[in-house]
Amino acid sequence: MTMREKIFAANWKMHKTVAETEAFFQEFVNYPGVGCGHGVVVFPPFTALAAVRGLAGAVPISWGAQNMYSKDSGAFTGEISPLMLKELGCAYVLIGHSERREVFRETDDEVREKVKAAHKHAIRPMVCVGETLEERKGGRASDKVVRQVSAALQGVPAEQVARMVFAYEPIWAIGTGLNASSSDAQEMCGLVRKQLAQLYSAEVAGCIPVLYGGSVKPENIAEYMLQSDIDGALIGGASLQPASFLSIIKNALGSRFSAS
Ligand code: PGA
Repeated sequence: MTMREKIFAANWKMHKTVAETEAFFQEFVNYPGVGCGHGVVVFPPFTALAAVRGLAGAVPISWGAQNMYSKDSGAFTGEISPLMLKELGCAYVLIGHSERREVFRETDDEVREKVKAAHKHAIRPMVCVGETLEERKGGRASDKVVRQVSAALQGVPAEQVARMVFAYEPIWAIGTGLNASSSDAQEMCGLVRKQLAQLYSAEVAGCIPVLYGGSVKPENIAEYMLQSDIDGALIGGASLQPASFLSIIKNALGSRFSAS
């Protein structure tokens, strides 16, 4: 089996001021083994990115933005460009999180433009896909996710896709405490990978990390990590406290969690 990169990403959403970010890192850096031999990514709000750049240097982790606009610069009041993220050392950008798609009506076309812009500036896109409860109950979950994956990748060449990360996040599981069963999550992450194989090749699909997100906690991460197509997690609520985020990473990796 391919040894794919494991990634544990913290999506802080609209939480944490600069002062709160500093407090997080003061505690986080004291844990040995953070970020060694696996990918740890923090997605703070835009306003805390500069602070993260200054604070995260002590530990081998990456950071990124929760969103961006697809243009380099211009008359787009209120937007943030990939160049601005590059300047702040962002290695990643979250694209098409369900809160962007549902609350801010972001479309598949906008998601694709952002994916292309991220690649143009060598920022690694982490694209989120997932269905609503209504879509799941109506048997439309697979169609929706396959459509979102395909739409995000139209015109994106294989060598760029190979650098991407996908996160399957069922909307009904986000922030609700109702996490998807590990078998349902496996089925959907497997479907994402199958679609990547269909669009590109089994080889490309086999090297792309696919994460699960939606009420991941220290108590439930281990069962997801046993699934063949789940390579880590995108974590919201349970990533806000350093101890809880660290427990997730430790419980995910078991004895492979390396002390620095
Ligand atoms: P949650 O959020 O872990 O709080 O469910 C996950 C996410 O929105 O990425």
